[in-house]
Amino acid sequence: MTLQGKIALVTGASRGIGRAIALALADEGARVAFCHPGDDQAEQVLTELAQRTEACAIRADVSDEAQVIGMYDTACKELGIPDILINNAGILREGPIVDTATEDFDRVIAVNLRGGFLCSREFVRRADAGRIINIASDLGLLGRENMVAYAASKGGVIAMTRSLSRELAPDILVNAIAPGSIETDMTSPDSMSPEQLAKDMDTPLARFGQPEDIAAMAVFLCGTGGNFITGQCFGVNGGSVMT
Ligand SMILES: NC(=O)c1ccc[n+]([C@@H]2O[C@H](COP(=O)([O-])OP(=O)(O)OC[C@H]3O[C@@H](n4cnc5c(N)ncnc54)[C@H](O)[C@@H]3O)[C@@H](O)[C@H]2O)c1
Repeated sequence: MTLQGKIALVTGASRGIGRAIALALADEGARVAFCHPGDDQAEQVLTELAQRTEACAIRADVSDEAQVIGMYDTACKELGIPDILINNAGILREGPIVDTATEDFDRVIAVNLRGGFLCSREFVRRADAGRIINIASDLGLLGRENMVAYAASKGGVIAMTRSLSRELAPDILVNAIAPGSIETDMTSPDSMSPEQLAKDMDTPLARFGQPEDIAAMAVFLCGTGGNFITGQCFGVNGGSVMT
């Protein structure tokens, strides 16, 4: 129970990596609020969380400023001021640049990058101290053909992490986790072309990771193990990127 007394807000936790992080934080004793944009699965996650801790689910789109402020108002009222923020909500759009509509590019940046900015700003306005963890991607470091918006958004998340870690030290520690291919609705081996799959498997560990692999790193960074860590980007990626 390393996070007893902490209050966490996890964005986009109705499934996948966000859900795993929310449950892992709850298992360590944190109270957990999470948001989702209106997913049916959210009810199930709330039930799972409520079996472990005090929890609340909030419907909010992280790209919308008013909804982000409303989400914080609700979280603070239900559980107290969050001292852990996990910026996890994200979307992926794929396709060659010539076929990428401007609206699709803007939407990916709005959710993946502006969402992290809006949630971090609201966190900083309310919390005196704490931890922010941004879920980036190895593609933010490597780049990937046919994923121009996604890779750019995640590169931005890594740069935002470094800037905020400098600005908010020493009270708020800010780090990123850059997952490799993790088996979720977003990246399922079953829905990939053979070429895509081969690319994703071309790592030293030659397999997909699980959401719990990312959750373990998030728990570590939120606990005492993370006391002297800020401005870092951790590759939980089976070796896809080595720095
Ligand atoms: N799965 C992977 O291989 C992988 C690899 C690297 C990084 N990531 C990142 O991890 C994060 C989680 O991805 P995942 O694989 O669990 O995907 P997922 O699609 O299973 O889950 C995404 C979550 O974000 C929520 N979400 C989407 N748009 C939102 C919005 N506008 N406002 C609030 N919530 C929103 C969804 O409802 C869902 O709960 C994302 O940021 C993703 O880019 C995933």
